Amino acid sequence: MKTLSIILAGEDRDLAQVLDEIKKIKTAQIHVELVALPSLKDELNRIRPQLVIYGANSNAESVEQQIRSTKQSFANLPWAVVSDGTNVDTILNFFRMGAIDVLKNPVEFQDVKRLIEKLVELDNRNNQNGKDEKRKLVAVFSTKGGVGSTTIAVNLAVELAKQKVGKILLLDLVLQHGNVADFLDVLPQYTLMDTIENFERLDSNLLENSLVKHELGFYVLPCPKEPEEGDFITSQEMSEIFYFFKANFNYVIADLGHEFTKTTISYLDIADSILLVTTPDVPSLYNTRSAFNTLKKLGYGPEKVKIILNRHKMKGEIDPSVIQKTLQTSLFSRLVDDPVNCLAAANLGKALLATAKGSELAKGFHELGTLIIGEPSKKEKNHVPS
Ligand SMILES: Nc1ncnc2c1ncn2[C@@H]1O[C@H](COP(=O)(O)OP(=O)(O)OP(=O)(O)O)[C@@H](O)[C@H]1O
Ligand SMILES: [Mg+2]
Repeated sequence: MKTLSIILAGEDRDLAQVLDEIKKIKTAQIHVELVALPSLKDELNRIRPQLVIYGANSNAESVEQQIRSTKQSFANLPWAVVSDGTNVDTILNFFRMGAIDVLKNPVEFQDVKRLIEKLVELDNRNNQNGKDEKRKLVAVFSTKGGVGSTTIAVNLAVELAKQKVGKILLLDLVLQHGNVADFLDVLPQYTLMDTIENFERLDSNLLENSLVKHELGFYVLPCPKEPEEGDFITSQEMSEIFYFFKANFNYVIADLGHEFTKTTISYLDIADSILLVTTPDVPSLYNTRSAFNTLKKLGYGPEKVKIILNRHKMKGEIDPSVIQKTLQTSLFSRLVDDPVNCLAAANLGKALLATAKGSELAKGFHELGTLIIGEPSKKEKNHVPS
């Protein structure tokens, strides 16, 4: 029998009856947790439930606010609410906001049973759709400048858009002088700072309409116009924004630049894959080894951190086998050295995949994209056992 995971969010006194009735259900195995509203988001990230039931008797207004804010980060998470049921407008309002059910107080067994049946049906449907719907956050990172992080982030976004795997967002998280916009010759009108300032009223439509849509079919969110703007963003705000992006895009590819900052660490924490870029020379290799160890200490193991060897076959390169031995891990992808096509693309403000389609480097990006698509995302890894 499948286990369903449900969070009851709010005051104990509003939800005790629901808890009792859920325990009587015999047709499904249900794991329930009571969670106070302030810790709801953290618990949602930890537990990844199939349903949230809010208790709205005591303070309907603050519950409404909480629902709106949770919906931004967990757009597809079904939710229901327990309300005192005296005010029709309140009930209608919850349905308009997207509730799958509104349970009247005092809650009865039949109502809870109906809700669980609805949930099982929804869950089955989602599992069906989920087979071809992935959501992944990918970080492109290195602790050494000039190794090709931006080139890789840009061309990976292009490749994923070409492979038509849903909505793609290319995110520039190099808050001090990021240059993704220059690589693609797009005007950074709406930046990460604007997203943060408008976050309370932001929904997927507004976000999509605000972002630059590149002619090759992916969305771009450039870094703030003024470098110091990024300093005012807290880690908590960053995490919420990144979850919001994950809820709204199938793949988010972020150029993280070269430093461990509160922004990059917030993203690395949530990322499904970290592409750690190195080049085949001694300074870069030592740098990568130290970054790889730091990432390990931060808790990101080899299943998450993938080494990308860029500028492979460059004149005088260290043999890849030596690189693997030094890092004690295998290379996830090799991208060949191609200064001529890279320079030409940069000068045109176009992605190399658009200007040098048949090149060996373009093939390398194609293979990298295919590997990323083939990798299971976090959600699949942590799927609820049936
Ligand atoms: N595979 C490659 N072959 C040849 N040149 C490359 C390759 N990848 C990147 N380059 C070139 O190396 C330079 C640095 O690339 P890029 O800006 O992508 O690196 P970065 O790590 O983002 O640098 P920064 O420190 O400026 O952020 C650019 O001139 C780019 O065209
Ligand atoms: Mg860069």
